[in-house]
Amino acid sequence: MVSFTKLLTMGLIAALTEASSKRGAAYNEASLVKTLTSGKSGAVSWSYNWADSVDGDMPTGVKYVPMMWGTSSVSGWTSAVKTALSKGSTHILGFNEPDMSSQADMSASSAASLYKEYITPYGDRATLISPAVTSSTTSGQGLDWFKSFMDDCSSCNVSALAVHWYGGSFADLESFMKKAISTAGDYDIDEVWLTEFALDADINGIVDMATSKTFLEKSVAWLDSHPKVGGYAYFYTANNHLLTSGSVNAVGDVYVAASSSSSTSSAKSTTTKKAASTKTKEAASTKTKTAESTKTTDAKNTTTTAKVTKTVTSTKKVTKTVTAKKAAKTA
Ligand SMILES: *[C@@H]1O[C@H](CO)[C@@H](O)[C@H](O)[C@H]1NC(C)=O
Ligand SMILES: *[C@@H]1O[C@H](CO)[C@@H](O)[C@H](O)[C@H]1NC(C)=O
Repeated sequence: MVSFTKLLTMGLIAALTEASSKRGAAYNEASLVKTLTSGKSGAVSWSYNWADSVDGDMPTGVKYVPMMWGTSSVSGWTSAVKTALSKGSTHILGFNEPDMSSQADMSASSAASLYKEYITPYGDRATLISPAVTSSTTSGQGLDWFKSFMDDCSSCNVSALAVHWYGGSFADLESFMKKAISTAGDYDIDEVWLTEFALDADINGIVDMATSKTFLEKSVAWLDSHPKVGGYAYFYTANNHLLTSGSVNAVGDVYVAASSSSSTSSAKSTTTKKAASTKTKEAASTKTKTAESTKTTDAKNTTTTAKVTKTVTSTKKVTKTVTAKKAAKTA
């Protein structure tokens, strides 16, 4: 017979587990995750770096999530993912923006084949997350790409949908997320992970702290409260984004503030009609420069071949596709 005290303890543990942060740190430099979370234990529970190995150390309580970036990541994947799992990773991320020619650039069917071969086999040890698609509403991209992928990958054991979002307002983010949650539901997928998001204006670095702070406050509150959001990561844990000159800035402070992740709202998915225009924006030279100079420093520090692989990944990361959306404003 189970004692009342034991039941109470179990209940408390369940409550604590439930309340654990959904917040992630997307990074290129592991040391910046430490800076971000310093003194804020529990604020960030997971991290990823668009790659298959941690490339440094994560702070206690921050679980690394390996990602198979794309077709170029096959070599080394198996040993890297096994290492990550043996060190405590519990989730695996699929390809990075396969719906974009500037990113992983894969057809849904070839992505499904690769997923089945390299990710599905770990379904008994980890929660498998789909390739991360953009918020583009162009036919064949975004959630449309995801649908084709799922049609080809019904036996892939995908447990969560990963999406990226860049846009003009919190209202647009909310509307996109509701659409993503509804689309995932069509495939009996219960969880959506928002693995990159920021205001369009901030892709190359935050332009206006006050605006971004308000945006992030609203976003974090909504994402924390929505029961179908499994995880999220603001773009990203780097200088000019969540940090400035190596210190957490005002926006970063919002991101690591004590979280209240109780699930109160069970928002019903509503279909919002949107006039959408998609444009592809080449990375502004400022961001390319920042990323490259960071990498140069990094490469000087360590000179392993793994580093070289990651450099390629990061370089690809730099070109961002931006989806500009016009959505019905809901106060
Ligand atoms: C599929 O995923 C679920 C949930 O993560 C897991 O429990 C199950 O073992 C997986 N199935 C296979 C065949 O790996
Ligand atoms: C080199 O990398 C290590 C581990 O990531 C870090 O602790 C150290 O500060 C770095 N050194 C320099 C000079 O960047």
